[in-house]
Amino acid sequence: MFKSVKLGGRGTVQVRVVGHFKGGKVEGHAGHAGDAGLSEALKRGEATGDVGRIVEAFAGGRGKAETRVLIVGLGEKGSLSAETMRSVAGAVGRRLAVTKDTRVEIDLAAACKSAGLDTQRAGCAFGEGLGLIAWNCDEFRGKASPKSTATALEVRAESKPFAAGMERGLGLAVSANITRTLSQTPPNIATTTFMAAEARRLARQVGLKCTVIQGSKLDDERLVGIKTVGAASENKPCLIRLEYAPKGKSRSGKPAVLVGKTVTYDTGGLSLKINNGMVGMKRDKDGGCAVLGAMHAIATVIKPNRRVVALLSVAENSISDEAYRPDDVLTFRNGVTVEVTNTDAEGRLVLADALCWACEKEDPAYIVDLATLTGGVVVALGSTYAGMWCDDDKLRAKIEEASEVSGERVWRLPLHAEYREMMKSPVADIVNSNPNRKAHPIQGAAFLSYFVEAGIPWCHLDIAGAHEADKDTGPYIAGPKGWGARLLAELLAGG
Ligand code: BES
Ligand code: MN
Ligand code: ZN
Repeated sequence: MFKSVKLGGRGTVQVRVVGHFKGGKVEGHAGHAGDAGLSEALKRGEATGDVGRIVEAFAGGRGKAETRVLIVGLGEKGSLSAETMRSVAGAVGRRLAVTKDTRVEIDLAAACKSAGLDTQRAGCAFGEGLGLIAWNCDEFRGKASPKSTATALEVRAESKPFAAGMERGLGLAVSANITRTLSQTPPNIATTTFMAAEARRLARQVGLKCTVIQGSKLDDERLVGIKTVGAASENKPCLIRLEYAPKGKSRSGKPAVLVGKTVTYDTGGLSLKINNGMVGMKRDKDGGCAVLGAMHAIATVIKPNRRVVALLSVAENSISDEAYRPDDVLTFRNGVTVEVTNTDAEGRLVLADALCWACEKEDPAYIVDLATLTGGVVVALGSTYAGMWCDDDKLRAKIEEASEVSGERVWRLPLHAEYREMMKSPVADIVNSNPNRKAHPIQGAAFLSYFVEAGIPWCHLDIAGAHEADKDTGPYIAGPKGWGARLLAELLAGG
């Protein structure tokens, strides 16, 4: 909706944003001359105080230019949260995109403080919301669409901690928007090689190390899942490795490893998807896109004091005479053999390589993988929560904390030994999918657990569903949410 959103700007403010809680007075206009009309505005019928409801007033006058004041509803005072602030920012952003004003002051710090919300955190959430609503997805529109009228927005705040928070939040949103743009990019453009080129570009831009393993090197490294799943496509599969290293001696410590399923298109392979089940499968790369966005945030905003390694398993699951088949048996680099029962359960095969690699080569402090792994998790949790499997109490606590801070919700599901039993094969060690229809999302997690060494803390996040908004809500428009970029960034912010 905006060309950009930046902190600062010197010119006269055109719009001020103040707030009010349900049933309360206008908050945050103390000391501003010409604000007499604001309380009057709250007597209007539309001034419900609901989250994001906006009432307009005009202040100033007397020969000077009038300032537009947006009095935005903050909901119940007792339930103001960072997530409310993201929605509020979304509503303000939508309004500003209509008014075309470009210099805005946000006076919500006092309201947040009075509701017990930390000012900097509130500012951060507001910045995230404004940055997320700013996302432009016009890249693929052509001559038959109206020209974009997006303007550059400058925001400021009187409160220093609120402004500092906004700057952090706007930065995080830039990263999440990178994830969203990649997700939105269609599969004829966002091919496997495109993803590798984007990773390299990102690495150059923000100072990360980038290696791409492809072609015969995949054989040398025995990355059999990536190679096999990608075999049918003319777009060649690869493993992308990115590394962030802090300055100083924490360079030598164990890294956090972030793994992303990056299937640029999922036709299902020979177990072809039916009944339009294929539509939207350009977003089967969203795990990897989230990891790329997170690496951007880590390098530009978070700058943690530990190394972070990103591993993207990149392949297109297509069909041709070179496609892998149901009944094939694959031997993975950790020695586990897999009988392929369904070529549409491809995500776990490409992830298995990255998990083996992480355990054997990276000496990880912990591993977190993100994947649009199963339709079953969409049935179970919708777009509201991602499914989480993590049996390491410490790592789980860290993920839950990052989830709380970022507002990207996770819900724990179980990984009992019986589910691992379910994956046993009559031919090889395990199958990639049990033909019964039980517990599909858990089967995925159980399968992956065969590729993580005991003792290494590991969390699997099934983001199918969570990665996408099906309608305009809060700071999102219908489409990709960039889910995971902010969660992972906050995870690393926590250490
Ligand atoms: N990419 C899909 C999962 C998916 C489905 C993501 C719907 C987003 C929306 C995955 O590769 C897949 O096809 N999963 C199968 C697994 C089954 C064959 C065991 C599924 O969920 O149906
Ligand atoms: Mn599939
Ligand atoms: Zn898939």
